[in-house]
Amino acid sequence: MEVKLKVFRYNPEDDEGKHFDTFTLEAEPTDRVLDLLEQVKNYVDGTLTFRRSCAHGVCGSDAIRINGVNRLACKVLVQDLKSKTVKIEPILGLEVEKDLVVDMEPFFRHYKSVLPYFVNDDPPPMKERLQSPEERSRFDDTTKCILCASCTTSCPSFWINEEYVGPSAIVNAHRFIYDSRDQAAAERLEILNDQFGVYRCHTIFNCTDACPREIEVTKAVGEVKKAIATGRLE
Ligand code: SF4
Ligand code: FES
Repeated sequence: MEVKLKVFRYNPEDDEGKHFDTFTLEAEPTDRVLDLLEQVKNYVDGTLTFRRSCAHGVCGSDAIRINGVNRLACKVLVQDLKSKTVKIEPILGLEVEKDLVVDMEPFFRHYKSVLPYFVNDDPPPMKERLQSPEERSRFDDTTKCILCASCTTSCPSFWINEEYVGPSAIVNAHRFIYDSRDQAAAERLEILNDQFGVYRCHTIFNCTDACPREIEVTKAVGEVKKAIATGRLE
């Protein structure tokens, strides 16, 4: 089948400015949008710039906007697109460096700010630190994050102010706040009780819709809000 790919272009080193280029391609129904971008880059215009690594929904590097919604290019099949004219744009709220590549520095700065690692100052036991299946299941959902930024860059609160820590950082804080072996929950909750913390979330649900791992992002943000408000982890 024939597919028209309308791709956002920007090169800070030329005078053309921000614009769209349209590429008409032959595609199989089972091709992914990433395959179409590769086809352009390999056979039509080698200057097209985008990120990808695993090509299998694991690394999170190819989040882009496809027909106005955040998706991983490697997880969207041509046969599932509503229109055979496909608009491709960079994710919103982060500065575009070139074509579909954005500056991820603010995103990872927020991620690092919530202590996204295990904290426990007790001497390590001879074997592993034990945890029951019930304790483990409390934060199972938020362990699935691949840091693709689809949630944070679909959030109007982040678009308005990039100082907002954003749903991805909150998801990664949640993963450790509810880990029964961790000892830094109170510190993380204090960080997120900031003017640019969880209360910037207005429960819009764009984040949940955007997440390629089907994490209940808005629910996780709500649980963190509740923990701050009540002082209890339930
Ligand atoms: Fe991506 Fe989902 Fe993690 Fe957000 S929560 S960064 S959308 S995997
Ligand atoms: Fe790794 Fe798509 S290229 S998630």
